Amino acid sequence: MSKIPPHIIDEIMQTSRIEEVIGEFVHLKRAGSNLKGLSPFTDEKTPSFVVSPAKQIFKCFSTSKGGTVVSFLMEKEHFSYPEALRWLADKYGIQIPEEAPATAEQLAAISERESLHIINEFAKDHFFKNLHDTEEGKAVALSYFVERGFRKDIIEKFQLGYCLNTGDDFTKAAQEKGYKLEYLEKVGLVKTKEDRHFDFFRGRVMFPIQSVSGRVLGFGGRTLFTDKKIAKYFNSPESIIYNKSEILYGLYLSKGDIIKYDNCFLCEGYTDVISMYQAGIQNVVSSSGTSLTKDQIKLVRRYTQNITILYDGDAAGIKASFRGIDLILEEGMNVKVVLFPEGEDPDSFSKRVSTSELETYIKEHTQDFISFKSDILLKDGEVDPIKRAELIKEVVHSVSLIPDQITRTVYLQKIAQQFEISEQIVSSELMKLRRNVVAKTSGEQEIRELPVENPTETVIPQRTSFHEERISANEFDLIRIMVRYGARVLEVDHLNEEGKNVRAETTVMELVHHELDKDELNFTTPLYNRIYQLLSEGLSQNELYSASYLKRLEDQEIVGFVSDLESRDLELSAQWLNKYNIVTRSESDRLQELVLNTIYSFKAAKIEERITGIRTKLEKASELEETELMDLLAEQMAYERIKIVLSEKLGRIIIR
Ligand code: CTP
Ligand code: MN
Repeated sequence: MSKIPPHIIDEIMQTSRIEEVIGEFVHLKRAGSNLKGLSPFTDEKTPSFVVSPAKQIFKCFSTSKGGTVVSFLMEKEHFSYPEALRWLADKYGIQIPEEAPATAEQLAAISERESLHIINEFAKDHFFKNLHDTEEGKAVALSYFVERGFRKDIIEKFQLGYCLNTGDDFTKAAQEKGYKLEYLEKVGLVKTKEDRHFDFFRGRVMFPIQSVSGRVLGFGGRTLFTDKKIAKYFNSPESIIYNKSEILYGLYLSKGDIIKYDNCFLCEGYTDVISMYQAGIQNVVSSSGTSLTKDQIKLVRRYTQNITILYDGDAAGIKASFRGIDLILEEGMNVKVVLFPEGEDPDSFSKRVSTSELETYIKEHTQDFISFKSDILLKDGEVDPIKRAELIKEVVHSVSLIPDQITRTVYLQKIAQQFEISEQIVSSELMKLRRNVVAKTSGEQEIRELPVENPTETVIPQRTSFHEERISANEFDLIRIMVRYGARVLEVDHLNEEGKNVRAETTVMELVHHELDKDELNFTTPLYNRIYQLLSEGLSQNELYSASYLKRLEDQEIVGFVSDLESRDLELSAQWLNKYNIVTRSESDRLQELVLNTIYSFKAAKIEERITGIRTKLEKASELEETELMDLLAEQMAYERIKIVLSEKLGRIIIR
């Protein structure tokens, strides 16, 4: 390549705006006279990357990289110095005088990396020409695109092309150019079988996959045949320039609008991106030839915190969207979902309706992940408490993946509202799941260093069945209520001897004891049982043991448990007070509701346990005597009746 004359270099440097260039890679926000954003060189979550438009420099405080717009491009895009200048010249429409085409000899001197880029660029142009200038291309490929409704300008914008079906048209052209076979094979454009070289993508329409800065890294090639035996898409293999998991199709064209609208639409395929873009929704990307990855989400995070998933409404689309939701939440980003009618994807739908109808549809069908998941899992307004409970678990699971605790708390409140259950119930479920998340991400031995969010981890056995887990969570809730609020006074409705409803005053501890005693219920978890026995003993001597009493006991497991409870309350309120300067409606304000819910949930769990026990016995009905069988059935019916009473008591508040 020819050298760039010094006066052109000057012009490039004077014309380029560092804030514009970096703004294509990083979401920058004004901070005084500077701009600030997340460093593109690290995985940071708080911005330490500063751009000064006045000085035309950048500084990354987490890596201590810094420099001019050219240094940025060299660092970020691994450009050489002249490449960076050429990129800028291209962006700002500055002509660089005559550039000799690369010869084979010159090429050999350039790094392998550069060679692969050049080959891909050549291939893209070659395929583009095939599409427009060859008979075959026009007859089968261009007509295909036109039939699908892709406009001319869009075909050009996305640089769509065609690889002739002759077998080695591209291979020959590339070899004539002097490109090494080794490199042609490395980028996956040429395949060799028994000394014969042929075009990997022959007979396919081509979708070039570009980097954020517009370099061609690979291709997707779609067959024009409808034969089910032929793979619909071929994709370029990974190479030193193409790492699928770090690339998003369309991002090069969409990043401006992603920043502008502070949102990124994520679809499933090449054609979805192109059609949405054509319809005027241009902040859109898709993962190409892979299912969505963590790195792809991180890539979006450079531009926005918000992703809206646009998948089709079939089972596969829903499954993929569930996976996407969790991945996005795990990266600490916000996720929404738009589901298209079954059998439609963004491509087909956007073709069928006008742009304004498309926009309206998206607006009206954008859901947060909580209502999306509940709509899917809870079809036809299902009210079966068990189903509901499973759904709540499922939604809470997604929330448990969110790294930030405050955000989790906000969602927790949302779930409580949406499902009309107490926050405390959601919270203890969440805590259980967080324990798993923590265990997964930080290794077993570190769990113990996180007592604040996991006050129960020392007492709940690590491996438990679903029932045991539910029981122990309910037991935890109830014990916590007693320890925390045992001495508080409540007014409850009470049936007196004449069957009349009267209001009565009672302490929380007395109420719990009364309710458990009545149904002869006990605690299964040994630690909880010890605490409960202690508290009950106190009660029989007219003593209400407080938390500070329990903390003075010799039983260190009890002491540890009670301290954990207290430190958790402390942390929560401190965080809310400091960060938001507000006080949430605290649980002690609605103690009545909380206590009753907890008692009923506890009972319901116990009853469920007994019903399950009976069912297990009934499964072996053939071995049972008839009287035994009748007894079991009667017992089962009795419990089912109690269950109904309990869920009535809970009103619309449904238990785990
Ligand atoms: N895909 C792939 N290989 C396949 C099928 C699909 O790599 N054999 C990838 C492609 O990136 C494709 C995406 O998965 O774009 C979505 O697949 P699909 O919905 O089947 O393809 P569309 O892009 O919708 O293609 P078309 O509308 O032409 O059927
Ligand atoms: Mn499609």
